[in-house]
Amino acid sequence: MSEDIRWEVVEESALTLPDHEAIAAMLGQAFPDWSHWYVGGRDYAGMQPERRVIGWGADGVVLAHLGIRRMFVTVGGEDVLVGDTGLVAVSPSLQGTGVGRELLVRTKAVLEGLRVPYGLLGTGEDRVPFYARCGWHELEGAVGTFSAFTADGVGVTETEQGGWMVLPVEGQLEDWPDGEIMLNGQQV
Ligand SMILES: CC(C)(COP(=O)(O)OP(=O)(O)OC[C@H]1O[C@@H](n2cnc3c(N)ncnc32)[C@H](O)[C@@H]1OP(=O)(O)O)[C@@H](O)C(=O)NCCC(=O)NCCS
Repeated sequence: MSEDIRWEVVEESALTLPDHEAIAAMLGQAFPDWSHWYVGGRDYAGMQPERRVIGWGADGVVLAHLGIRRMFVTVGGEDVLVGDTGLVAVSPSLQGTGVGRELLVRTKAVLEGLRVPYGLLGTGEDRVPFYARCGWHELEGAVGTFSAFTADGVGVTETEQGGWMVLPVEGQLEDWPDGEIMLNGQQV
């Protein structure tokens, strides 16, 4: 199946309106509970990515997608550069066929190219096993604080325990600082 996907790594400024619309359409299908966020060309809910990994199908349809933005977060009072990762989705008809794994393999190469110490993402507990199988590590019991998604209103601060995961890129897992993760902004 994956040979039918044309993979592309795109900087945000290179995306056209039809690209944004195609991405938003797929995100709306992959996240049905939040499909009201992904309308028209609005293909992000919080922090706008700087780079996207996109798997294109025929006729300009997006089959897989992920966004990255480099940012500093504070962990236990220490500034840490991360490639914040989000908007991870595979078209529902292809879920469970290995496309998500391929998306994350390609994402690791992008994070390596960006030369960040770590990838960072926050996810629901039910999706932790997917990322763990693809090389990400859950920060057991970690607490993270971030600004709520713009699509849901103003930047109210939210705190979540669990589901915070890192991918060591140029850094070592054991060097990730102890303490609360403060994003001081939104997640991708
Ligand atoms: C989560 C998502 C991106 C995974 O992509 P996918 O193409 O379905 O995953 P894959 O088929 O490539 O699975 C890769 C591995 O993860 C495992 N896996 C996938 N989802 C899993 C889950 N929910 N629980 C446990 N394992 C899971 C697979 O069994 C596979 O393991 P293996 O290759 O070692 O046997 C996709 O299901 C999706 O888009 N879901 C809806 C949107 C979403 O929740 N996105 C994540 C937001 S944080």
